[in-house]
This record gives sequence, C-alpha cells and structure tokens, in this order.
Amino acid sequence: LKLGIMASGSGSNFDAIAQAIADEQLKAQIQVLIYNNPSAKAAIRADHRGVESVLLNHRDYISREAFDSEIVQTLKQYDVDWLIMAGWMRLVTPILIDAFTDRIINIHPSLLPSFKGINAVQQALASGVKITGCTAHLVCLEVDSGPILIQAAVPVLVDDTLETLHARIQIQEHRILPQAIALAAARVH
Ligand code: GRF
Repeated sequence: LKLGIMASGSGSNFDAIAQAIADEQLKAQIQVLIYNNPSAKAAIRADHRGVESVLLNHRDYISREAFDSEIVQTLKQYDVDWLIMAGWMRLVTPILIDAFTDRIINIHPSLLPSFKGINAVQQALASGVKITGCTAHLVCLEVDSGPILIQAAVPVLVDDTLETLHARIQIQEHRILPQAIALAAARVH
C-alpha cells in the first residue's frame, strides 16, 4: 500500500501509522505527508520518521477546488494509491474525492453518526453522553458520513475535561486507524 497522509495538526495519528508500519503490523509505506498549516507539528514528526512532507497552504489558493487540484497533483507525483486524512481540517471537494474514489480514510473523534463536524469531543461532553469514541471511515463528499470501517468506544468520566477525554479517545484512534487502513485495502482488489 502506498499511502499519502494529510494532516493539519499535531500528527499523532500520522505517527501511529508510521509506527504500525515500523512494527510490521501494517504492510504499507508512507509516500508523502501533506500539511496545510505551516506550524503543524505533523511536519516535524515526518522529518523524524524520514518521510517527505509537502506544505500546501490553503491560504495560497483562490478556491477549495484549486487547492484540491494541487493536492491531487502532488499525491499523483508521489505515486499515492490510498489517502489518509489524519486530522485534516479542511472541507474537501469532488476534485479530491473523485481522484481517490473509495480510497480515502478519515479518523473522527466520535461514534458517528453522532457529533459530526468540528469540536466533536466538546459536543459529546456537552451532550452528557456516557460513552463516546472514535470512528475510522471511508470519505464521501458529505462531511463525516462515509461507510464506517472500525469504531472504538471510550467512556466519559465524571471529571473529564476536553483534554482528558480527547487524550483517551486518541489512544483508541491510534489503534484503529492502522487497522482500518489494512481492512479497507483488503476489501479492494
Ligand atoms: C484527531 O482527534 C482526529 O480524530 C481529528 O483530528 C485529530 C487529529 O489529531 N480528526 P492528530 O493531529 O493526529 O494528533
């Protein structure tokens, strides 16, 4: 599997994928990391892992479509066949979806279909649910809505803050995202 990873933030999910590959739990290679935020720590993690990274700053493009076209071109240059959104905080367009039909995986910090969109962990806390979690799913145009690959449940504790709950969810994200990549790839021939 030739993976392209897209990240906007800390990149802990990027790292979890790289670690699963290093541990030979996932037979894949990371061709490139694309990040959109100059200060994304994901880029530093890529350096440490010896993975090439490319900064594509959405602020430099006149439209989401123009931005996505550049992303697709870059992914093709790096010979990517599966695309992983590991904390990619931009809405995507058909230009990206159609270039990698059924080959884009996202990780989201809730048990979908509950708490779509941004601030999913905050939404869960505010709603008073006692169990939340994370979902690895195939990406379609509608945000946080594609077919579910794997989910993990996480209890909400009485004294949880946004930070403590998100940290507990991320432990599960790091476990299920590499598994979901293997699962999705095994289904497609
Ligand atoms: C994760 O919680 C993921 O579910 C969400 O964004 C966060 C990214 O975390 N989509 P990281 O950058 O991988 O640490």
